Amino acid sequence: MREYDFIIVGSGAGGLSAALHAAEHGKVCILTKRTAAESNSSWAQGGIACVQSEGDSIEQHVSDTLVAGAGLCKEEAVRTIVTEGPQRIEEVINWGVHFDQREAKDGHLEFDLTREGGHTKRRVLHARDATGKELTEKLIAAVKANANIEILENHFAIDLITTAKLGFVSEDRVLGLYVLDEISGEVAAFRSDRVILATGGCGRVYLYTTNPSIATGDGVAMAWRAGAAISNMEFIQFHPTCLYHPQKRSFLITEAMRGEGARLIGKDGKDFMPKYDKRGTLAPRDVVARAIDTEIKRTGGPCVYLDISHKPREFVLEHFPNIYEACLSVGLDITKERIPVVPAAHYQCGGVLTDVNGATSIRGLCAVGEVGCTGLHGANRLASNSLLECLVISARAVKHMMQKLPLGRPVAQIYDIPAWKTGNAVDVDELVVIYHNWDEIRRLMWDYVSIVRTSKRLQRAAARLRNLKREVQEFYWNFKVTSELLELRNLVETASLIVECAIRRHESRGLHYTLDYPVLDESRPPADTVVRRY
Ligand code: FUM
Repeated sequence: MREYDFIIVGSGAGGLSAALHAAEHGKVCILTKRTAAESNSSWAQGGIACVQSEGDSIEQHVSDTLVAGAGLCKEEAVRTIVTEGPQRIEEVINWGVHFDQREAKDGHLEFDLTREGGHTKRRVLHARDATGKELTEKLIAAVKANANIEILENHFAIDLITTAKLGFVSEDRVLGLYVLDEISGEVAAFRSDRVILATGGCGRVYLYTTNPSIATGDGVAMAWRAGAAISNMEFIQFHPTCLYHPQKRSFLITEAMRGEGARLIGKDGKDFMPKYDKRGTLAPRDVVARAIDTEIKRTGGPCVYLDISHKPREFVLEHFPNIYEACLSVGLDITKERIPVVPAAHYQCGGVLTDVNGATSIRGLCAVGEVGCTGLHGANRLASNSLLECLVISARAVKHMMQKLPLGRPVAQIYDIPAWKTGNAVDVDELVVIYHNWDEIRRLMWDYVSIVRTSKRLQRAAARLRNLKREVQEFYWNFKVTSELLELRNLVETASLIVECAIRRHESRGLHYTLDYPVLDESRPPADTVVRRY
């Protein structure tokens, strides 16, 4: 049985930054189900929102975040993350990360800050249009150079091991995880008193998403099965502008493009946003995504267009080289042509309920980044706040763990952790069944649980998911585990949590919009949706 002081699941910005902090104290293992470079963070285009200019202020950033969050942000979380942001930015720069700079009027270099919807100031630090890649590449290099950190690629965390699962009821604490080595097919128990989930989000629950294939809700599903409290899963953010092209699915067109003057236009070439919101194309994402959804339905679709062709070619190439190349690879020259776009699932604002240290309801278990729900985003996330949250909460989680669970008195060792039992399980005989269920979940979530919802559609989705869950559970017991099967198991669990939370909210707030309750419920104070398995 392997043993570590810290086990971190996931190799995005939150996981890598947590590992670098944890390595100052002890032995760290990062488990990642594919390669270290494959994460949600690495796909982030826009950047990291952080107060950096004289014309901006912490108060303004806090206020913009609270406005976007539609009454559900936790002000303590917002204030902490925004306030500690500049220190964490300095830290990642020391770890080698480079953000774009430009010459100021007086000749000195300053950050080239861009703007995104809902931010009243320019405050988004970026590395061209591939900020996540720059950030994660540099953090991976720092992690690889650190002798205290071991990265295990192709290792899939199946389930958390907790005292409650072993039948001890006095206090629920984490003891480790069961982990599948995807190359050998073996499952082993990994012991640790300190586990940090940094598994990212669940965009793959939906048919159309801007997320990479790893985004299957693994952390939320695992935490739920272990009995942790899960919160606000109804708030799924749909990014307004995902490229609409059959050869290039899931490709995001950054909101920064609208921040730099791109216009959203309909089939008729007219800018339709002013009809929906006085902030036009820079209205918050929920507003823009709903407006596009309405336009597509009104005009018979299949998409709307984003147009930056009025800007000088050099400007476009300098600011959006990655998007330019990607579009050109499918025959679209964005310096001359408008870009076909549709909304797509982008970000999970809810997740495993945590405090401002990333601590969950299970002792020794923290959740950082998209998998966690600190209360930063409330009912609607402000663009580019999330990488900042990853950096701040990961540092705080390690500090908190060191205070609450100091090294030197390992608890997991006291418990007799049973080895993984394969029983009579056989190899999966027909992968087609797994793929079929996967497609069914994604399609039904898109059709019944996306931008505009109704109670009837949610009930229908819940009924289908109950059947699918039963089927997937049968596979899980009868077949040897594979990453496909484990992802399907997590996907169906996460989809069910989204639906369950959505059914419980009888109002429209932020990202949750339902025709049956089309306005805010102002009869009582705004409240989180919190669900627990037991
Ligand atoms: O549009 C974007 O570049 C996305 C940014 C974000 O979701 O933070």
